[in-house]
Amino acid sequence: MHGDAVPAGGPTTGPAVIAPATRLRGDFRVPGDKSISHRALMFALLARGESRITGAGDGADVRSTAGIVHALGATVERADEPGGTVRYRVVSSGIDALRATEATLDCGNSGTSLRLFAGILAGSPVTVTLDGDASLRRRPVARIIEPLRAMGATLAARDQDSLPPVTVTGHAPLRPIDWTTPVPSAQVKSAILLAGLRADGTTTVRERVATRDHTERMLRARGINVSSRTDGGAGAIIEIDGGRAVQAIDERVPGDPSAAAFWLVAGAIHPDAELTIRGVGVNPTRRAVIDLLARMGALIEGHPVGDTRSDVGEPVADLTVRSSALTAIDASPEDVAAAIDEVPILCLAATQASGRSRFRGAGELRHKESDRLAGIAAGLRALGADVTVDGDDLVIDGPTPLSGAPTESLDDHRLAMTFAVAGLIASGQTTIDRPGSAAISYPAFFHDLERIRA
Ligand code: S3P
Repeated sequence: MHGDAVPAGGPTTGPAVIAPATRLRGDFRVPGDKSISHRALMFALLARGESRITGAGDGADVRSTAGIVHALGATVERADEPGGTVRYRVVSSGIDALRATEATLDCGNSGTSLRLFAGILAGSPVTVTLDGDASLRRRPVARIIEPLRAMGATLAARDQDSLPPVTVTGHAPLRPIDWTTPVPSAQVKSAILLAGLRADGTTTVRERVATRDHTERMLRARGINVSSRTDGGAGAIIEIDGGRAVQAIDERVPGDPSAAAFWLVAGAIHPDAELTIRGVGVNPTRRAVIDLLARMGALIEGHPVGDTRSDVGEPVADLTVRSSALTAIDASPEDVAAAIDEVPILCLAATQASGRSRFRGAGELRHKESDRLAGIAAGLRALGADVTVDGDDLVIDGPTPLSGAPTESLDDHRLAMTFAVAGLIASGQTTIDRPGSAAISYPAFFHDLERIRA
């Protein structure tokens, strides 16, 4: 890979210390969407020829994917863009020419890299091991191994095929399957669809709760037959035809709504705030955090941005949030699934909302970069919030004034950023241990946090 190394930004050693802010003002952009950046790099590897990606996120997770794309034989060039995003130029010989130059591919902290590459490699003639850091090694993989094996793939993982590392002994072609995912997971759906590219026929994935649809949109834009329809309820049925070539295209990545969520909540819960975040992706399968905050009474205005609509039809908007009087929310399991990465910051919003909030069916949070169910409850409680874990539900009574205290990020980027935003409204000093994990998805997070203090 070529290009400049970029410092992670913000504190990487020692705890971060956040003082309360008297006012919040800002007009800025967030990093390129992490989910879309991963996929744009992976699909550039699958396509023969040159792909260009602009506006990509520069977090450590996306860098892990870029490193693997390079290790599998593509030329990968990256260059900084103004505003903290990066552009990539990827030249690949295509899916039929994948080669593993390293026996172990390092996914770092990134579950998306591990699960989607497992699907990509299941039907390719390479034998590789997908591994990662201590957090990734605790994350479940049986959910991808079972369907990929049903397609005829050969995979093995640690601890009776339940945990990484995962060794994929790829071979083509695979058999198409009709698979109902047991938990809502875009990563599992995507792993099956990507293996389906190498299957002889049509592969079907049925979801009881529809998840983010970037894989479907982005493959369609690259000439693949992928159809998606609702199952009449909250679910979706997705079908992909195997055997077609993925075409190389140029793509602009929109701003990450999961990163914007930190500022939407900061603005809504701070008593003197007005923040504008430009160019945020508002794909219907990703915008639940905006809709849930609006249901809580958050004053968020969205202005669609026509001319920067991404090349694969991802809608984009400029969002403005102002200080708001929030009321409690009863979030259904479907709401939680749709805002799975934003539950930590939504819980912070709930501590400032009047009444009892409940986030139902949040058990999947136990399997993220940390046990987020326990981590959210412990961190917000340390700050004085009234949070309980009731089975798989998070229950929060508010509003509660927060007081600065030490919090544990568990080395989880979304917890570190949630507690840092809490520090903007807590009295006294809030400290966050291991805040460097913010660089997993948002390297300039602490820089932006200091910049918006007016
Ligand atoms: C992602 C899907 C989600 C999400 C993760 C990114 C993706 O995981 O939590 O941050 O890009 O497909 P699951 O699909 O496993 O819930």
